Amino acid sequence: MTRDDVAAHLDYFGELGVTGVSKDSAWTSREARVSGSAGEMVSGLSGEPVPGMSGEQVGSLSEIRAEIGDCQRCKLCSTRTNIVFGVGNPNARLMFVGEAPGADEDEQGEPFVGRAGQLLTKIIEAMGFQRSEVFIANVLKCRPPNNRAPEPDEVATCEPFLFKQIDTIKPKVIVALGTHAAHALLKIDTPISKIRGQVLAFRGETKLVPTFHPAFLLRSPDRKRDVWEDMKKVRALLSDSE
Ligand code: URA
Repeated sequence: MTRDDVAAHLDYFGELGVTGVSKDSAWTSREARVSGSAGEMVSGLSGEPVPGMSGEQVGSLSEIRAEIGDCQRCKLCSTRTNIVFGVGNPNARLMFVGEAPGADEDEQGEPFVGRAGQLLTKIIEAMGFQRSEVFIANVLKCRPPNNRAPEPDEVATCEPFLFKQIDTIKPKVIVALGTHAAHALLKIDTPISKIRGQVLAFRGETKLVPTFHPAFLLRSPDRKRDVWEDMKKVRALLSDSE
C-alpha cells in the first residue's frame, strides 16, 4: 500500500465521520465478518440460474426472481427499463434494504450503483465487508418515474417479494435505509430520525436497524456520523450472533 493509498483510505473514513479505531474482536477477527462465499453472487437479472450459484438459498432466490418474471403487476412496469431484483451473497448475514431503484439502477439492473450507492459501498467497506459479502435489495423492484416516493399500492404489490427474499436469505441483521424502507418493513410511520439506530426484532431471529438513507447523507453530510454509530451497532450485533 502506498502513502497515497493510506491517505485516500483515511480521507474516506474521515468522510464517514469515523473518529477512531477499535481493538474489539468485532473489528479485528475474520470470524466476526459476514460469512458465506463472496463468490456466490446473485444478480438475478434474468431469472435464469446464475453461473456459480448453488445451494438451497440460491435456488430459492432464483425461484423468487422467476416468479417476478416480466412483472406487469403495477403501473411502474410501463416506465421501468429493468427490474432490479437485488444483488449479493445469498447466504449473507447482513442485508441492506433501500427504497426503490433510481435512474442508474434502472439502467444497470443493480441496486445502489449511482451516487448514493457509491456512498453505501463505502459504508459497507468501512464496516470491514465487501459489497459482495452482503445482500442489497429494495422495497420496490422498479423505478418510480422521476424518483418520486413509492406509492402505497406499489409497496403492497412489490413487498411480498422482498419478504420472500428476506425469508430465504435469513440475514442476522437488516439495515433499513431511510424512511420508506423502515416504514415498509416495520409497518410503522414513525419518522426515521426517531427510530434510527434502534435495534428492533424482526420476523423471528432477525434484528433490524433503521438508519438514514445514503441519498440523504449526500444532502446532509453532517449526519454521516450518526450512520457510522448505527453501523458500529450492526457490526457488534453480527459479532454477538457468531
Ligand atoms: N436509492 C435506493 O433506495 N435504492 C437504490 O437502489 C438506489 C437509490
